[in-house]
Amino acid sequence: MCGIVGYVGSKDAVPLLVQGLLRLEYRGYDSAGVGVIDDTGSVRVHRSAGRVSDLRESLPKNLSGTIGIGHTRWATHGPATESNAHPHSSGDGRVSVVHNGIVDNASHLREMLRAEGVALTSDTDTEVLAHLIARSSADTLENAVIEALTQVEGTYGIAVLDARHPDRMVVARNGSPLIIGIGEGETYVASDLAAIVRHTSTVVHLEDGEIATVTASGFTTFTANGPTAQRLPVDVEVIEEDFSLSGYEHYMRKEYLEQPASAEAVLRGRLDDRFGTPRLNGLNLDPRAKREIRRVKVIGCGSAFYVGQMGAQMIEELARIPADAEPASEFRYRNAVIEPTTLYVAVSQSGETADTAIAVDEIKRKGGRVVGVVNVVGSSIARACDGGIYLHAGPEVSVASTKALTNMALAFAMLAIDLGRVRDLSVSNGRRLIAGLQRIPGQIAQVLENEDQIADVAKRLSGAPSIFFIGRVRGFPVAREGAQKFKEISYRHAEAYQSSELKHGPLALISPELPTVAVVPHDELTGRNLGALQEIGARGGPLVAVTHGDVDFGELIVERIDVPRNEPELDPILLTVPMQLLAYHAALHLGHDIDKPRNLAKSVTVE
Ligand code: F6R
Repeated sequence: MCGIVGYVGSKDAVPLLVQGLLRLEYRGYDSAGVGVIDDTGSVRVHRSAGRVSDLRESLPKNLSGTIGIGHTRWATHGPATESNAHPHSSGDGRVSVVHNGIVDNASHLREMLRAEGVALTSDTDTEVLAHLIARSSADTLENAVIEALTQVEGTYGIAVLDARHPDRMVVARNGSPLIIGIGEGETYVASDLAAIVRHTSTVVHLEDGEIATVTASGFTTFTANGPTAQRLPVDVEVIEEDFSLSGYEHYMRKEYLEQPASAEAVLRGRLDDRFGTPRLNGLNLDPRAKREIRRVKVIGCGSAFYVGQMGAQMIEELARIPADAEPASEFRYRNAVIEPTTLYVAVSQSGETADTAIAVDEIKRKGGRVVGVVNVVGSSIARACDGGIYLHAGPEVSVASTKALTNMALAFAMLAIDLGRVRDLSVSNGRRLIAGLQRIPGQIAQVLENEDQIADVAKRLSGAPSIFFIGRVRGFPVAREGAQKFKEISYRHAEAYQSSELKHGPLALISPELPTVAVVPHDELTGRNLGALQEIGARGGPLVAVTHGDVDFGELIVERIDVPRNEPELDPILLTVPMQLLAYHAALHLGHDIDKPRNLAKSVTVE
């Protein structure tokens, strides 16, 4: 959410910044801007409302410099106008700042600055940073930044240019991700690797509270209390191709088609079919510690929360440990009781979601043990957890998450089997489930082969102003994720309900205008699910069933989307895949900008 990029070296920064911003656009696409120190020693800024491509097209020809900062915005304070776009500058134009995060006490600081006669030119919280730094009488830019930040409450990842120090930028992090990328005679900063992967994969992740001076020859870190030990850059394994469209029209489609391979990646080396147990060494839990767990609490946001709910059900079913999931955004505000015998599981693709990261900190502060189910290696949440399961889904660029969610579900299945196998889950059941997991990548490929039929159903659904997604028990998180994905990119109202709850209220809405997508696996609840579908059919409600080939709907008129059967406990993983395709093809039919859905951005790093 909001993307930052910076460059200092010997090349012209402007094209590098724009290229970086194009790669970061999934973090925000309301407006964008760049600022450089040019060869006369002045800070020059160019901004534009709209997409990074709008910025690129409007760039003045003579804008250049070998040091610069760039930003793509997801609006928090003030509408998406040019004047609210970053960089924000001090009145004299000497200091320029890009910022990701929220300054909570911005209105107080704005009033204070106004009272001092400072003319504010935007509605943003960020602008105060530029003024606070510029008016500081500190001897160095570094000290001016420290002085400004001590007045700021909130979260930030910032990069600062000062015309008086054309050899450096100063960056700082508190709650919003920031990395430094090391090149040869050049140094980059970015809010994530996507922006700089073309140039370097040697990086340093700044910690909260850390500030750094970044020059062409490297960086030094410090905090408000003084210098810190020099941080050693690490080489991260990345394939640049993973961040590009590679000929696909949309990242979302590219990524859901990658699922057979990405699902293999999360399972690779982790399944022991002899003992029917996964190998999850990264959890840092020995069998005794696993046996001592009395409860599992999963926290995550949005779709990660829905998969967390799927995971909690798997854990309760297979390991017989009471388990539930809760949105991290709620958990962190309700002063939850933290128990030493509870295993807390934080689930996040980006590893940077602010609500989840803050919930993890809170659990740890109170002595709880947290493991992460995280995709991005080295991300804030992954680093904060005591152990975890990396998802190995590869970079996910599409705002609507697909392959990372599938891998989260697979990771939870492995965790559930693992916790079960040190309790009552028999070796034969363990082997049955491990064999089931081994079949999943191939079965995902089978679902994807059915894309044309699912696209036809999606086109018909896209005409409805509102849709119900229903399922029960194992099927309910699938329905919730189905509704979420549909809302996100088709902008159609979609609501998930337990099929068991229909007759307690929502059945009143059923009519020929309101289609229902029902999750109907072949399991012990098939009969019950069919009952709910009868009630809908009897009232003229159109029905789509995401189901197994051997479920018989009798006389009911149902448009069916069949997925292959696996083991009943693992079936939700495969049943979720058609939901991605339904949402994608509905949005495609409606002509929406699938990779940049309105009002959304990937990686919600603000609270
Ligand atoms: C939906 C979606 C979001 C994320 C949520 C959490 O398609 O992508 O709901 O699941 O914002 O993000 P992460 O997993 O990065 O913590």
